Amino acid sequence: MAKSRLAMFGGSRTVEAAAGTSARTAWPIVTDTEREAVLGVLDSGRFTSVERGEVQLLEQEWAGYTGVRHCAALSSGTAAIELALVGAGLEPGAEILVPAFSFIATASAPVLRGLVPVFVDIDPVTYTLDPAAAAAAVTPRTRAVLAVHLHGLPCDMDALQALADRHGLVLVEDAAQSHGATYRGRQTGALGDVAAFSLNASKNLPTSGEGGLLTTDDDALYERVVLHRQFGEDLNGRGERAYLSHVVAGNAKLSSIQAAFTRGQLSRLDERHEQRDRNVRRFLGRLAELDGLVTPHCPDDRTHAWFQLRLRFDHQRMGCPDIAPGALRSVLQRALRAEGVPVRPYQSLPLPAQPALRDLPGTQPYRPEDHPATLALIEDSLTLQRWHLNPASGPLLDRCADAFEKVWGELDLLLPVARSTTYEPLWRQTGTAAVGA
Ligand SMILES: Cc1ncc(COP(=O)(O)O)c(C=O)c1O
Repeated sequence: MAKSRLAMFGGSRTVEAAAGTSARTAWPIVTDTEREAVLGVLDSGRFTSVERGEVQLLEQEWAGYTGVRHCAALSSGTAAIELALVGAGLEPGAEILVPAFSFIATASAPVLRGLVPVFVDIDPVTYTLDPAAAAAAVTPRTRAVLAVHLHGLPCDMDALQALADRHGLVLVEDAAQSHGATYRGRQTGALGDVAAFSLNASKNLPTSGEGGLLTTDDDALYERVVLHRQFGEDLNGRGERAYLSHVVAGNAKLSSIQAAFTRGQLSRLDERHEQRDRNVRRFLGRLAELDGLVTPHCPDDRTHAWFQLRLRFDHQRMGCPDIAPGALRSVLQRALRAEGVPVRPYQSLPLPAQPALRDLPGTQPYRPEDHPATLALIEDSLTLQRWHLNPASGPLLDRCADAFEKVWGELDLLLPVARSTTYEPLWRQTGTAAVGA
């Protein structure tokens, strides 16, 4: 193939934001199904979850889809994690094993409920909680494990369940990113004691704003969640509201409009996943041919929801071991974005290095050397987000693959730029002790 000049150096862009692009990349996709469902709620006048309707129907449908006895609709994924912990009876001061690499809510939800997060490194291949590192982090105070199915790939749940069984721990799934993904034929959300999903508009199963779903097979846990989602009141729909609060609790209900929107999305979840899976596998298959470009690995016993696509750049295999991975990544980001590929970092710090989470009572001070796989991943990778969720984005992903091939064809021009780039990792800039990596 004839070489063409990189857009970063004045050449033409590979992925043009042409007319029609947004119909290919918009997410969520809003069709007449959602419009009619939302209008139906407006016309019905049944706006709250207390009045039986869309919220209860969504709960039944999601419990059926995931294969569990109970689903509770909630105001966000964060609220779902919080109430999962409360419902499981975890007391303030208990330790919970949490991956060092995740979205902030994975750690802030336990902290908001008085638990002590103990950060555990990830597996360098799946980017999810490393069961061996989790086992090494158990103390006499450990009561729970929070397994995050990051980017849409289920964790190694058999190993985590065995660990939980050995130590009598509650196994909680953070399934915010994994709607529809399966592990050994079972849906995420049905793999532990209790699970939390996000319905944020960016997610594979979105609402038109914010929302969450909690799933469990445990009757007593479910009853506690229901009590805690609305003022500690037992609102079971029988008789007049008594205004009797059994526990101190907030308000974390989902509204009917959000539920109606999500029911429309749920009716297309599998069909959209199948098309997305084809698009993404074709895209990743082409990228995997490029020297040193590491594409996501999905073990044979799982399916991937492809919430995000994380791409790693192996400086050894790219023939530039002298270039800091972060410097290489930032130059590749500039080159790819100039070509029109919207790659970006997702999570620039290990969770324990987040300013909000340092120096929490009961936790160890942050030490970079404790989570080497997390730090390596942050430094050497970028993600593609949202675009690829839309099943019509296939042709654009093909153009993105063209752009990667073009950039890889010009590495001899880019590597000197990376070599002369001064680069300081964010975890060092934010006042981390000057040790490790
Ligand atoms: C892994 C993970 N956990 C929890 C959450 C929190 O969900 P929400 O934004 O609905 O509160 C998110 C949201 O992005 C997430 O990605």
